[in-house]
Amino acid sequence: MPPPPPEPGEQAPVVAPKNDPTPHNMQPHQNSHHQKRNTEGPSPAQRSEPSPTPQPTLAPNQIHQHHHPSTPPPTKNLRRTHHHQHPPNQARTKHHQTPKQRPTASTTPTTPQRHRHEATQWKQEQTELSRRNLPPSPPSLPIVGHLHLLKQPLHRYFYKLYQALGPVFSLRFGSQLVVVISSPSGTEECFTKNDIVLANRPRFTIGKYLGYNYTTVVNSPYGDHWRNLRRIMSLEILSTNRLNAFLSIRRDEVRQLLYRLYQKSSTDFAKVELKSKLSGLTFNITMRMIAGKRYYGDDLENSAEAEEFRELMTEVFLYAGASNPAEFLPVLRWIDYKGFEKNLIKIHKRMDALLQGLIEEHRRDRSKKTLIDHLLSLQESQPDYYRDAIIRGLISVMILAGTDTSAVTLEWAMSLLVNHPQALKKARTELDSHVGQDRLIEEQDISKLPYLQAIISETFRLCPTAPMLIPHMSSDDCIIGGFDVPRDTILLVNAWAIHRDPKLWDDPIIFKPERFEGGEVEGYKLMPFGFGRRACPGVGLAQRVVGLALGSLIQCFEWERVSEDLVDLTEGKGATMPKAEPLEVMCKARDMMKKIVLHGRNHA
Ligand code: HEM
Repeated sequence: MPPPPPEPGEQAPVVAPKNDPTPHNMQPHQNSHHQKRNTEGPSPAQRSEPSPTPQPTLAPNQIHQHHHPSTPPPTKNLRRTHHHQHPPNQARTKHHQTPKQRPTASTTPTTPQRHRHEATQWKQEQTELSRRNLPPSPPSLPIVGHLHLLKQPLHRYFYKLYQALGPVFSLRFGSQLVVVISSPSGTEECFTKNDIVLANRPRFTIGKYLGYNYTTVVNSPYGDHWRNLRRIMSLEILSTNRLNAFLSIRRDEVRQLLYRLYQKSSTDFAKVELKSKLSGLTFNITMRMIAGKRYYGDDLENSAEAEEFRELMTEVFLYAGASNPAEFLPVLRWIDYKGFEKNLIKIHKRMDALLQGLIEEHRRDRSKKTLIDHLLSLQESQPDYYRDAIIRGLISVMILAGTDTSAVTLEWAMSLLVNHPQALKKARTELDSHVGQDRLIEEQDISKLPYLQAIISETFRLCPTAPMLIPHMSSDDCIIGGFDVPRDTILLVNAWAIHRDPKLWDDPIIFKPERFEGGEVEGYKLMPFGFGRRACPGVGLAQRVVGLALGSLIQCFEWERVSEDLVDLTEGKGATMPKAEPLEVMCKARDMMKKIVLHGRNHA
């Protein structure tokens, strides 16, 4: 009998890894205090039990915009409030305190009592924190802290705060302390000397349901379980060998996209909506690697299943980027503000059933050479670790972290290129001279195309799909930029702000791929994939998909804007900094594409 689909409370087994996947340049540093805490990690029970206590959690992209009618606009309200007299870097005594107890259902029975309790708690916390040398912050209100000031998109609002308060500042989301870093030196401090202390993740509600009760590699706390999942990801799922084995999937999907565009534009310019096509491309690549199935485009094996999958994904991504002020205001959580949690439970159940269905199919037919099949083989030899719940968690991470990020990057790259026809022309000339017009670009060509790579780097600089990385959480007190960062602080790195800082980049808001032609960027100025232990493990796959798809689109088609007006580059809402308006462009097949199509689609 297959195990039943787990509820979010299902425990993930914890097995000490045989090989620590931590790269040698990322070995734990010799701080015995931190090292002890982190190598021990949380107990298995702590790791897998759903917390009965309301957690103050909210992803940066989930923050609801509370605008207090009497509050002046944020930029006018940015007086520094120093919590402490010490200047940064001055030696001082740290106040080590036990973590604060949050209210539980049994201690806070009625609403008025809860409100009083919250207010008292807030006061106590303020007093505790005022003893520390916290990073500067704007004036705040009781209970809500700075929540009422927040404005979307957060990375832009935090950039303004950086200009007013400096590269390390702090905010309160309800009672939760949040520190925002906006400089390369601050980032370096986070991901070198403080890398282990900051390697935890906050426990957002979304991680409870879509993150399998904080047991997936994205959500789980730093420790053996997370380390083991990273090992599986780097050795079994995203290793160079495995990526090479799936090369034909990436080629085929890119070619199917080219063919579909060709059908529309073989004789003249045609208007195409690119966003959905790019999203279909990355979903199909991922799902074919995972389960050997395509769910987007033509020739679908099972269109009802595909439709269900597409529908579910739309909801999942909507929730992944949705606002949920209840994360930080327990009072809203108790009433399940806007039914957020109820809906998440429903989505989780549907997603779980779908993924379990794929696993069952593979169990019945073991001939498919897919990632699920490979993980089932590992399950045979190590059934305790590779349980179905772990496999479902790994698959869901690949889908959630690995599809939209690459699709959105491609959409931004194409938007920037049609706004800068000179760069587009230069990239095409490079492709024509290095690859020619008799064959299509292959992944191995990318390393010989510096201008194409420079376009990709420039796109990552201006439009990072994780503009504030993924939130980190401190597991202990640490110091950043001379300021105290207490244990249980959420840490956000504003990569978007660093990528556009005029102190670091010439003409920072201008699209200028030439700035990357000189080679690698030094220091901590460019970080689309993050740094340190929790940096993105999918960088190799992402670079291959983005490089091949973008190179192919440039090589095979002419691209123009739909009107004289520049493409609007405003960011919309969502987990991956999408473009507000889906990209529409004019596209016309080049002669080389016609020749290749005449030779037959599969030999292209
Ligand atoms: C353009 C594409 C992508 C971008 C820009 C991107 C960016 C990022 C960033 C900024 C982080 C957070 C780093 C931090 O917390 O400090 C991250 C984490 C992660 N990414 Fe990616 N990513 C991309 C594609 C992928 C792909 C293709 C996969 C896998 C198939 C993937 C899997 C993950 C996972 C599992 C994590 C969490 C790592 C952990 O918490 O230990 N990503 N990514």
